[in-house]
Order: sequence, then C-alpha cells, then structure tokens
Amino acid sequence: MKLIIASNNQGKIREYKDIFEPFGFLVLSQAEADINLEVAETGSTFEENAVLKARAIYDMSHCCVISDDSGLEVEALGGEPGLYSARYKGLGTEHERRMAVLKGLEGKDHRNARFVTCICFIDETGAEHIFTGIWNGVIAEKEEGTNGFGYDPIFISEDGNGKTTASMPLSFKETHSHRAKAVKSLIAYLRSR
Ligand code: IMP
Repeated sequence: MKLIIASNNQGKIREYKDIFEPFGFLVLSQAEADINLEVAETGSTFEENAVLKARAIYDMSHCCVISDDSGLEVEALGGEPGLYSARYKGLGTEHERRMAVLKGLEGKDHRNARFVTCICFIDETGAEHIFTGIWNGVIAEKEEGTNGFGYDPIFISEDGNGKTTASMPLSFKETHSHRAKAVKSLIAYLRSR
C-alpha cells in the first residue's frame, strides 16, 4: 500500500520511511509521488495544520498520507512561538529566534515551556488518526550546547537533569522528545491495525 509523506524535509522522510516500511507500506516522498504542493499552514493548532497538509495530499492522491506539525510553546509568552516556531517574529536564523524567546523572558522566573508534535495519518479509507507528543520543560537563562536544532539550546526538559536538550546526546531526544512520544503512539497504532 502506498503512503505519501507530506514533507520535503529529508530528515523527516528518512524517519517516516523507517517507521512505515516494516509495516509493508511503499513509502514515497511528496517529490517521488510527483506532488508539487506547498500547503499553507493556516490552522490555529498544530493538529489543524497537520490535518490540512495531509488532507490536501490525500484529496489529490487518494493514498495513505502522513504529516506532522511541531513547535515550542512558552507559557509566559502566551504560548509563543507556537505555530510560528519556524518563523518566529519573522527572524531569519534559529539563533535570532532563540534570542527573541530569551529576551521575552528577561527577568521572568516563570519559564515553563513545552514542545508539541502532532502527527496526522490518513489511512486508505480517508480516515484521520491523530498522535500527539508533549515534552515539558523550562527555558534556560542562556543558550547552551550544539546538538539538535531549533530551540534545543534553550530548552531544559523535565527529564534532562538541568541540561539543555542541545547539551544531551542525540540519543536522548530519540527516546524522550515530543516527536519520539508521538511516533511511539503511531507505531502502537500501526501494530494494532
Ligand atoms: P516542524 O513542524 O517539525 O517543522 O517544526 C517547526 C519548528 O518548531 C522548527 O523549525 C523548530 O523551530 C521548532 N521545533 C520543532 N521540534 C523541535 C525540536 O525537537 N527541537 C527544537 N526545535 C524544534
């Protein structure tokens, strides 16, 4: 059965191929499926955005589709960067976006934050299945570490021993992160199908 990944991100494509191929899916990237479509992320939640992307591709292909949407929510910033994590305040680099978060929290003790991933799988009947992963933590006082990407240098997870995610080995994220949790639920679902 064909499954299309609603992304052009090579890292995600590799990850989803590894997850789905053992379950007998023929996994195709958007490009391999010849779908040239950039879906506008106009939803007001991660779930809505994940569904929008998957649904648009399902409507074109009538194949199984997988899509996801993730981001960082900081309580004292009213949930920002949230849906705008990848383009927070229109800033061009990850470093600038991290600095904007640190600046927004200057002098604040309340630094609770969480990473969220929402995965949408549309199956062969067109039914949607949603898998959400949440990773709670706090925002550090300054950047630290070089592993990972995005907000990892300023995020200290509740299970991270006080270290930023970017200071931990990559294997830590692979087992503890928001994405790892959402993927774990997806795999449990695939096993139960
Ligand atoms: P995406 O929806 O998975 O592409 O994630 C959107 C944005 O959220 C990324 O560009 C990052 O800024 C941020 N983000 C998502 N997941 C992570 C993570 O695991 N570490 C750091 N930043 C992340």
